[in-house]
Amino acid sequence: MATQVIHPQATPIALPSTGPAEAPAVSFLGSSTTASVNIEAKAPFSSIQALFDHLHAHPDDVAKLNATYPRRGVIKTAALHKGESDQKFTIDLSSMRNSRIPEALRQSLDPHGLGEVLDFFDAISAQYVPVILSSLSLLAGTDLSAAHTSYNMNYRLCDYNPNTAAPESSNGCGAHTDYGTFSIIFQDGKPGLELEETPGTWVPVPGDATVVLTGWCAVILSGGRISAAKHRVRRVPGVRRLSAVLFVAPDLDVKLKPIDDSQPIKAFSDTIMRGDLDVETFKDVMGKRWRYREGNEEIDNADSLSQDNEIENMVWG
Ligand SMILES: [Fe+2]
Repeated sequence: MATQVIHPQATPIALPSTGPAEAPAVSFLGSSTTASVNIEAKAPFSSIQALFDHLHAHPDDVAKLNATYPRRGVIKTAALHKGESDQKFTIDLSSMRNSRIPEALRQSLDPHGLGEVLDFFDAISAQYVPVILSSLSLLAGTDLSAAHTSYNMNYRLCDYNPNTAAPESSNGCGAHTDYGTFSIIFQDGKPGLELEETPGTWVPVPGDATVVLTGWCAVILSGGRISAAKHRVRRVPGVRRLSAVLFVAPDLDVKLKPIDDSQPIKAFSDTIMRGDLDVETFKDVMGKRWRYREGNEEIDNADSLSQDNEIENMVWG
């Protein structure tokens, strides 16, 4: 099935063909709005569900998996006991985290979906990341590939499971803008993902669409030529929804400023224009906010600023 999301304000832009008809057709639907892409690949949702089901039933394996990455953990279950947080469970994988999984643990989890999930993400990143980066470079008017040499990626599985601390809550994932360059979101067919069209107006994304959303790093590196969509996930009580997300960010040492000092089309803060902020620092600042929203970290004066407000203050002049 062709997957496509049309942003209401978007104007289709024809991009060069990337190869034979069978190749992924990447088409962004707006230079200043949400990027969209036709990706025929389907995420292995039966394996994703099997992996979550196995881990929900085997806390010993959760403990073993989390021990491989003690700093933040791999599977996050704060929603089990925090009703105000995002009501979802997540599994965060990356090449760094994967490399720490002992062979015996990997072999025990492979029959429960881990192997197929990792193979899927590896294949998707090889097939789509370069072509999406070059398409975004066209929109940005500058080459983004030099800022993405190390493939700074994360693989995330989400389980919007009815069995949480707040089963009736509609808050699956609070409103936010992703920090990195872009994210590819695969969905299992259930609706829930919404994009903010104008402040306060949310547009549902069809549950079977695969979407590419741009993030803050794309906004900054492109000098404001690419913008980023705020999004959220609404939960339907009693309905389980699964998603798989591939996050792509610039290399951690990249200075977050408009590339090549190209004249930005929006006014950025002095911090940004001086190149004082690198990707790693930006991720740290932003990560504190998203971990609070997801229930995995406490924070001072949490209510004074939303994640996006704090970042907007940092980015814009
Ligand atoms: Fe997001």
